[in-house]
Amino acid sequence: MKITFSALSIPKKGSAVILAGKDNKLGIIAQGLDDSSDGALTRAMKAAKFKAEQGKFLEILAPAHLKLDRIIIAGISSDDELNLHHWERFGGGLYGRLAASKSQAVTLVLENAGDDEILSPAVARAIHGAFLRSYTFDRYKGEIKGGKKKKDKNHNVNNSKSPDSLAVQCEKPAVVRKIYADLDGLGSGVFVARDLVNEPANILYPAEFAARAKKLAKLGVKVEVLSEKQMEKLGMHALLGVGMGSVRDSSLVVMQWNGGPKTQKPIAFVGKGVTFDTGGISLKPGAGMGDMKGDMGGAGCVTGLMHALAARKAKANVIGVIALAENMPDAAAQRPGDVVTSMSGQTIEILNTDAEGRLVLADALWYTQKRFKPQFMINLATLTGAILVALGQNHAGLFSNNDELSQRITDAGLTTGEKVWRMPLGPEYDKMIDCDIANMKNIGGRYAGSITAAQFLQRFVNDVPWAHLDIAGTAMNSPKSEINRSWASGYGVRLLNQLVADHYEK
Ligand code: BES
Ligand code: ZN
Ligand code: ZN
Repeated sequence: MKITFSALSIPKKGSAVILAGKDNKLGIIAQGLDDSSDGALTRAMKAAKFKAEQGKFLEILAPAHLKLDRIIIAGISSDDELNLHHWERFGGGLYGRLAASKSQAVTLVLENAGDDEILSPAVARAIHGAFLRSYTFDRYKGEIKGGKKKKDKNHNVNNSKSPDSLAVQCEKPAVVRKIYADLDGLGSGVFVARDLVNEPANILYPAEFAARAKKLAKLGVKVEVLSEKQMEKLGMHALLGVGMGSVRDSSLVVMQWNGGPKTQKPIAFVGKGVTFDTGGISLKPGAGMGDMKGDMGGAGCVTGLMHALAARKAKANVIGVIALAENMPDAAAQRPGDVVTSMSGQTIEILNTDAEGRLVLADALWYTQKRFKPQFMINLATLTGAILVALGQNHAGLFSNNDELSQRITDAGLTTGEKVWRMPLGPEYDKMIDCDIANMKNIGGRYAGSITAAQFLQRFVNDVPWAHLDIAGTAMNSPKSEINRSWASGYGVRLLNQLVADHYEK
């Protein structure tokens, strides 16, 4: 979708969007259109009993005396105070409305309407919302021509291409263009995460995932891929055990973006990248198992975040580590009852091979803190079904050993709409994974499943300020929202980009 920004002027052709504020008040350009069409717009609003509230739209086709195909009046008044995320939702809803009417070349006249203002950051956020909404995952929906499928090699190609361009008019186009440049990088990072999570597991196995991560080199990210052999040398048997039943090799990808001062300690993000989770020998039931192609949502987010930070040249030193493995049942697979030694030296009795996310993260977290001594580590993982039971799909579970970090993540969640809810940790829960024959077992029993999983991870962070986001409910199978209609949400990219921007780029 082509997006341009220019100064306010009267739109002459195609489809135009104008804004209406409280009491259906129009701005100067919109009023001009109303006057030129003998009051068609005000009459239409009256006839439809239109109330110009945020998220409400009214479409007028072929307005009299104008060459425009249609005018869409978008309401922007609201009783709530509008934060930037509201404007993203506004823009997403507007994009949905434009797509529904199959509008092509669209001019958006984003001017103040009566007492309702749309300032430059709000304009940029609205367009960002529209961009996020424009995402589709349709690379396997090529048209069948002559019995052969027409291949579409590009990602994010919207076959219906509706609308194909947005010409945005606003008061300060140069200012908006500058703000939007960063949001463009962020938006493409979100698309990277969504693409990775949507991709089926026969296409996206660990090596293919690593190959896609390597593409970040184009943006100036340093990318290393550790092979099974290298991981063996490091003693990562918790991670390696998970991939033993798969014909695909496991790997660990390390991404580095050095946009901050040389002396600044890095911050680190670590992602669970189980490209498919059958449960292993502790096989999952069949229903819904296909969803487990998204069990790399944590790694998808970390990769999308690194893309976003590099694309907008964030002034911070950032490490992204993703632990990639496929959890399959096989003669070579690890068994319930096996004992493995992790890189940290701690031993683990595997009582359920389906609790594999904590195993790959155990080695990834230990490696990250040991090698990079980061200011903090945040890991993301589609870790437990229990977090869906506790929080549903609108909050990720937040577990942390650090109140300041927790508060910062919580605040970023409110700013972006990617919300988190803090859950408890404590020695009573930690005890639940003590084990008779090893240092710990990988399951805690029937109760508090998300907490015992987090306690397990905490045993591998070595007192570094750390937070774990359980995104099993928020990364995939997403409820329809104004800014996303796809199965994958890209959850976490906007949240953590905000965290970095708010606190770690000074
Ligand atoms: N990948 C799953 C968790 C999951 C469930 C993610 C639903 C997304 C949607 C994880 O590896 C898993 O299987 N966890 C088990 C842990 C149990 C065996 C202790 C679970 O949640 O049932
Ligand atoms: Zn599992
Ligand atoms: Zn899993």
